[in-house]
Amino acid sequence: MSSVVVAGTGSYVPDRVVTNEDLSKIVDTNDEWISTRTGIRERRFASDEEAASDLGIEAARRALADAGMDASELDAILVATCSGDMIFPNTASMIQHAIGARQAFCLDLSAACSGFIFALKVAKDMIRGGSERAILVVGAEKMSTLLDWEDRDTCILFGDAAGAAVLTLSDEPDTGLLVEQLASDGSLGELLSVPGGGSRAPMSEQVLADRMHCIKMQGREVFKHAVVNMTQAALDICEAAGLHPDDIACYIPHQANVRILRAIQERLEQPEEKFFVNLHKYGNTSAASVIVALDEAVKSGRIKTGDRVMLAAFGAGFTWGACILKWTR
Ligand code: UT7
Repeated sequence: MSSVVVAGTGSYVPDRVVTNEDLSKIVDTNDEWISTRTGIRERRFASDEEAASDLGIEAARRALADAGMDASELDAILVATCSGDMIFPNTASMIQHAIGARQAFCLDLSAACSGFIFALKVAKDMIRGGSERAILVVGAEKMSTLLDWEDRDTCILFGDAAGAAVLTLSDEPDTGLLVEQLASDGSLGELLSVPGGGSRAPMSEQVLADRMHCIKMQGREVFKHAVVNMTQAALDICEAAGLHPDDIACYIPHQANVRILRAIQERLEQPEEKFFVNLHKYGNTSAASVIVALDEAVKSGRIKTGDRVMLAAFGAGFTWGACILKWTR
C-alpha cells in the first residue's frame, strides 16, 4: 500500500527577539523564575505590520522550496491556527493568494496547540482518499496578540512563529506518516481559553475591560493534563504501531514547558537527548510549535533517513494527540 510522506518542511520566526529580561520591565517577573519554571529564555514577537498569514507565507515558501515543488502543484492548503488574521476569510486563503497556489482549496483548522498534528491527520486521510495528491499543512500563530500583560502566569509563555510541511503520496509502502492518534475532552475547555471576541461574548467595552479577549489559563491544571495525556498518547500510539518507545529515534513534543517535556521523557524511560527542545528560543508558539521543531530537527541533522519520529501535542479543548513518522528524506 502506498504511503503519505513529508516531501519538505520550512519554518519562519519574526526578527524581534524578546528576552525574559525585556519582559521583566513590563510585568512583575524575572529571568530566573521564567527560566527555571518553564525553560524559556526568549521568544519572537511579530511586528505590528505582520499577521499570522505573513509568518505562514514565508514558512510555506520555504517548505515548497525544500520539497522542490511549485505552489501550482498544491491541491489543498490546511492552516492550523488560533490567532488567524481575521475571523474570516480564513488564513489559508491568504497564504494561497500570496504563494500563487491557484489550484488549492483552503481551510483553517482550530485545535489550538494540537492543531498541526490534527491537520496532518486530516491531510493524510485526504490524500489517502485519492482526491488530493499534494497538500500544504501550515501551523501559523501570532500569539502575542492574545497576551494579557496583566497576567504574569501566562504572558511570559507564548511567542510568534510559523512552520509548514508539504505532504505527498509515495509508492513506497510503510513509510512517512505511519500512525496517528487524536483525542479531545470538551468538558475541560474552561481551563484554557480566549473567552471573548467570539459569538459567546462578542467584542465590547466590557470584554476589553475584563481582558476576555486574552488567554485565560489555569496553568497547574493544564500542566498535569498535558503530562498525563501526552504520555498516554505516546504509549498508545507505540502499541498501535507495534513499537516500543525505545524504537523512536527522536521525539518532537509540543514546546510548552521544559518541565512537561522532562516529565514525559521520564515516564517513557527515554534519554533526554531523544527529546528535541527549542522552546528556550521561541516559547510556546501553539500550532506552530511542533512543525517549527520538526523543521529545525531535520535541518540540524537530528533526524536521519529511516528514523522513526514521534510528534506529540496538547492544547486547549482539551485536544491532544501523537503521530509516528518514518522519515523518508
Ligand atoms: O500549550 C499548552 C498549554 N500550556 C501549557 O502547557 C502550560 C502549562 N502550565 C505551566 O507551564 C505552568 O503551570 C506555569 C509555567 C504556567 C506556571 O508554573 P507553576 O510551577 O505551575 O507555577 P504556579 O502557577 O504554581 O505559581 C508559583 C508561584 C506563584 O507564587 P506564590 O503563590 O507561590 O507566591 C505565582 O504567583 O510563582 C508565581 N508566579 C510568577 N513569579 C514570577 C507566576 N507567574 C510568575 C512569573 N514571574 N511570570
